[in-house]
Amino acid sequence: MIQRYFGLNHLPFDRALPPADLFQSQGWQELSARLDYIVKTRSLGVITGEIGAGKSTAIRALASRLDPIRHPFLYIADSALEPRGFYREVLAQFGITPAFHQRDARRQFDHAFLDAYENQGKQPVLAIDEAHLLSTSMLAETRFLTSFRFDSLSPFAFILVGQPELRSTLRLRTFEAIRQRVGVRYHLSGLQESETKAYIEHSLKRAGATRPLFTDAAISQIHTIARGIPRVINTLCAACLLDVCTQNGQAVDTENVQRAQLEYEQI
Ligand SMILES: Nc1ncnc2c1ncn2[C@@H]1O[C@H](COP(=O)(O)OP(=O)(O)OP(=O)(O)O)[C@@H](O)[C@H]1O
Ligand SMILES: [Mg+2]
Repeated sequence: MIQRYFGLNHLPFDRALPPADLFQSQGWQELSARLDYIVKTRSLGVITGEIGAGKSTAIRALASRLDPIRHPFLYIADSALEPRGFYREVLAQFGITPAFHQRDARRQFDHAFLDAYENQGKQPVLAIDEAHLLSTSMLAETRFLTSFRFDSLSPFAFILVGQPELRSTLRLRTFEAIRQRVGVRYHLSGLQESETKAYIEHSLKRAGATRPLFTDAAISQIHTIARGIPRVINTLCAACLLDVCTQNGQAVDTENVQRAQLEYEQI
């Protein structure tokens, strides 16, 4: 309905953007540079950000720009995993049949990652998303993933991604050994107001819009409500466009934003 009403080629504010079409905010560029650095130096990185800020999207973009042969990308997003299940999953993604016992699987992991690095010229990247939800035992296990050859070598890049609680969890005494090994930390914040405007325009242009579909006042209001968080901006913008359609309007104004906000806050 939105597409036809506004004469667009694609639905704007859709979540399935190809990596090349993602919006490059200042924070996004800083995060991307740090992710590249983590891969290059095979270090441990901790990436945090508000819900919906774009963390998983940044990881997806990283995976897409890496050479899959040199950097096999292993992505774990099942935060309910305990160490045994974790090794099973990582080894399976690495193309290895996991051993039954955790201790053996850990050895397989060590061997596979060292062999990949030393004998195959590969530098795998392991990303654990939703890491703020990991159990204490799983988080403690990550300590073992970072000490190869008596802690003298790192054969792979390791990225923990999660909501801001991840930082406070890692500050606990139990996780001091992990915290000290973190080489790169980055917190992805929401967009600045000028970036929210550019983000909305970017999404509309990509969808084929040939005229502004939001007034400046509407954009400013959307920014305040969403606090610059892309997922919230998307939801509000889509609801606003739908509201304009049903009201037979021309462009999104503050009244549409207010109605969209009421809808948004209902559930
Ligand atoms: N740089 C970007 N360009 C375009 N859209 C983006 C960008 N970053 C985020 N988004 C949009 O915001 C949505 C939320 O992003 P994402 O799922 O990466 O957030 P998250 O930080 O992983 O959230 P959560 O904490 O809930 O896991 C995406 O579906 C995407 O539509
Ligand atoms: Mg996410």
